[in-house]
Amino acid sequence: MRLIKTKDYAEASAVAAEIMAAQIILKPDSVIGLATGSTPCGMYANLVKKYQNGLDFSAVTTVNLDEYVGLPEEHEQSYRKFMNDNLFNHVNIKPENTHLPNGMAADPEAECVAYEQLINSLGGIDMQLLGIGHNGHIGFNEPSDHFVCDTNCITLTARTIEANSRFFDSPDDVPRRALSMGIRTILRAKRILLLITSEEKAEILKKAVYGPVTPQVPASILQLHPDVTVVADAGALSAL
Ligand code: PGA
Repeated sequence: MRLIKTKDYAEASAVAAEIMAAQIILKPDSVIGLATGSTPCGMYANLVKKYQNGLDFSAVTTVNLDEYVGLPEEHEQSYRKFMNDNLFNHVNIKPENTHLPNGMAADPEAECVAYEQLINSLGGIDMQLLGIGHNGHIGFNEPSDHFVCDTNCITLTARTIEANSRFFDSPDDVPRRALSMGIRTILRAKRILLLITSEEKAEILKKAVYGPVTPQVPASILQLHPDVTVVADAGALSAL
């Protein structure tokens, strides 16, 4: 695991964008796994600037980690809308090469199987971007007694519902379920880029990096992956 220390959110966002851009320059047809949440917004803004300066997304394919169940694509809080607004609508990626699980699928279980097959048919993920939840979740893989392996329909914990309620009118509006890549799906990525900022994530970063590998801290499994780069700001590093 490589740890890149940055001073603040702006620098962490710039460094993460550099790493992502380098991946795309070295392999223009990369399959990139993407993440949503407040943490990667700055990184996406930097990638849009890089596109304006010549970074070419035309051969890139993306697969997102997760999507809420029951939110149509055009819903203000759907992850599809987040990705369109923050990245896809501003770069020359082909819309048909951008993939998220379909949270409106009539049969969520079948959608999970299809999503896993899609990732396999693309030859796997070259670089997966991750954020980390306050409870150590990656994607929507919540703390549990076991690691969920493949793309799965997940019931959100109260902590995640509370954390995500800041984007909704009220906690009651936060969907209770999401489709998420599983831990094995994530670990199969050739490279992982974990972006973590702010002091409120300091304790969970410490547990994930130095604590025991346990499904109670899903991000701790990243200790077993051979190519993880953590980009963290001073706040997130403050407990290490
Ligand atoms: P955040 O979410 O970037 O909004 O903190 C991260 C996550 O829950 O994975």
